[in-house]
Amino acid sequence: MCGIFAYLNYLTPKSRQEVLDLLVTGLKRLEYRGYDSTGVAIDSPDNKNIVMVKRTGKVKVLEEAIQEHFSGGDYSEPVLTHIGIAHTRWATHGVPCERNSHPHRSDDGNGFVVVHNGIITNYNDVKTFLAKRGYEFESDTDTEVFAKLVHHLWKTHPTYSFRELVEQAILQVEGAFAIAVKSKHFPGECVASRRSSPLLVGIKTKTRLATDHIPILYGKDDKKQNLDQDADPGKPQVLPRSESTSEFMPLEEKEVEYFFASDASAVIEHTNRVIYLEDDDVAAVRDGTLSIHRLKKSLDDPHAREITTLKMEIQQIMKGNYDYFMQKEIFEQPDSVVNTMRGRVRFDGNAIVLGGIKDYIPEIKRCRRLMLIGCGTSYHSAVATRQLLEELTELPVMVELASDFLDRNTPIFRDDVCFFISQSGETADTLMALRYCKQRGALIVGITNTVGSSICRESHCGVHINAGPEIGVASTKAYTSQFISLVMFALVMSEDRLSLQQRRLEILQALSKLADQIREVLKLDTKVQELAKDLYQHKSLLIMGRGYNFATCLEGALKVKELTYMHSEGIMAGELKHGPLALVDDSMPVLMIVLRDPVYVKCMNALQQVTSRKGCPIIICEEGDEETQAFSSRHLEIPRTVDCLQGILTVIPMQLLSYHIAVLRGCDVDCPRNLAKSVTVE
Ligand code: M6R
Repeated sequence: MCGIFAYLNYLTPKSRQEVLDLLVTGLKRLEYRGYDSTGVAIDSPDNKNIVMVKRTGKVKVLEEAIQEHFSGGDYSEPVLTHIGIAHTRWATHGVPCERNSHPHRSDDGNGFVVVHNGIITNYNDVKTFLAKRGYEFESDTDTEVFAKLVHHLWKTHPTYSFRELVEQAILQVEGAFAIAVKSKHFPGECVASRRSSPLLVGIKTKTRLATDHIPILYGKDDKKQNLDQDADPGKPQVLPRSESTSEFMPLEEKEVEYFFASDASAVIEHTNRVIYLEDDDVAAVRDGTLSIHRLKKSLDDPHAREITTLKMEIQQIMKGNYDYFMQKEIFEQPDSVVNTMRGRVRFDGNAIVLGGIKDYIPEIKRCRRLMLIGCGTSYHSAVATRQLLEELTELPVMVELASDFLDRNTPIFRDDVCFFISQSGETADTLMALRYCKQRGALIVGITNTVGSSICRESHCGVHINAGPEIGVASTKAYTSQFISLVMFALVMSEDRLSLQQRRLEILQALSKLADQIREVLKLDTKVQELAKDLYQHKSLLIMGRGYNFATCLEGALKVKELTYMHSEGIMAGELKHGPLALVDDSMPVLMIVLRDPVYVKCMNALQQVTSRKGCPIIICEEGDEETQAFSSRHLEIPRTVDCLQGILTVIPMQLLSYHIAVLRGCDVDCPRNLAKSVTVE
């Protein structure tokens, strides 16, 4: 939700035009996080002012506006040092419009400009405080109060550095945020910080960096000031200054470029050296020097923030020959599932090692129950694997939607093991649920796709699903990789159970064939496209199944809803006669999953119930299953695999179907309306 990108070049000449190009490209990479409106702020050609351009809509619209707004000699002159900030928004406070777009400013003169991701929950209190002191607000956002608060502090505490002003403002606000601030009063400087929203700093230097960490600095006395005590205008109030300890040196480079971004995909084309900021870190660049400060000192703080080398490749975040990221990500699944298993599953020795949790397995085996918690698609991966986990761990397994789990104040015990499943690792509901369980002493296991994400960092242990960057808002390859990660966990938990060895072997053999079988399923693409032509003008699609395939019904319906804006419902086939059957007639589109597994006979009953009400279902069935195919002229045949992995093969036709319906309906496949890839608000 919302993407932040800022760029600072120090002693590395760049024209404003080049800076703008960098900002726009950065925003394009982050567009999946929100695409209601966008904006940039750079220095004016005389360096005395800050100019901003904002637009409603996607980055493309901003790009065109920038071309119109900034042209000519002034913008092509190289500048030695410059800082530009940019933002792509997913509206929370205030409708998407230019007025509510970021950057937000402190005053008419653009003294301080701010880009923000997250929600400032006490913004009303801060707004009232500032309004009483004459500040007028021009947007409906929570962000604007931050810009004006920094301005107020600057007025009342003129001796403060830029960083100290931002630190003081941060101490006054509550909620979740990542921010980057630029000021015309502090040219060439940038201050950024985060609390519960992701932010990283990319570092690009001409020569290899002399260090692999940045020390953390503390103020001697970073106390939150009482904002009600305004300074006497005649006698500036001097706050206790935060003097940095001199024990460590911050990062000083002669020629350097810095990038502040909500995620690594926005910086990887420039540098692979990044620092993931932690909550309440304040990163400041001044005279080309990066320093990282902590607002509060705590005993378990490390002394430094590590500079991480990203493993991501630039091709991973490009569309290549595909029309959409979602399409590319669907077709990547033969490789992404292998990457999830790589180095973990040894097919020759039938052994599995999950390095990120292996030391915790004895503790997990002693637990009272397993809880799998997530939202949307991530929640569905838990539904998909619950039965196998129950079978192979012989433990009670609860599957929870993070938001509902929190609403219920669910009882959690010290001997619970709680899994938090999240592609982004930043979903606010999931993260809140994680903190709730952690406070109650449960063991926290993260299952994420984003290294360095909040869920990753706050978990005791975890499995990185290694699906590679997922850019399309609709989750596809992350689902199949989450699914496999949980299957691998079930296999690890049962490795010493003699009675389960035959079953484990069957699953391991099936896993070894999975990539090829996914390739087979992907060959159905043209056939699925034809089916999409039958369906795309309908208003609704019912998707029915049970057992191991119920999760595919839920996930398929979610894909159809979010991508095509059609109504769709995943229906447990056993529940048909308890209500949903009333929806079925000769015009209602129905898709049924009927595979040769332990619930086959029950699924056939459901199929008969539907066809005897004149329903004409599309059937997903096993290759060569003529008995089932006899019930419909429209069917999709998938290869046979072990029952507990069927869900991986049945979900792919659903991903393809929703994709093709969305294209036929003219929907924006990668950026469905009203949604964002990473939902960092509750
Ligand atoms: O990043 P997460 O996996 O935590 O995201 C959870 C959901 O927001 C996400 O799966 C959402 O449902 C997808 N857009 C569905 O395609």
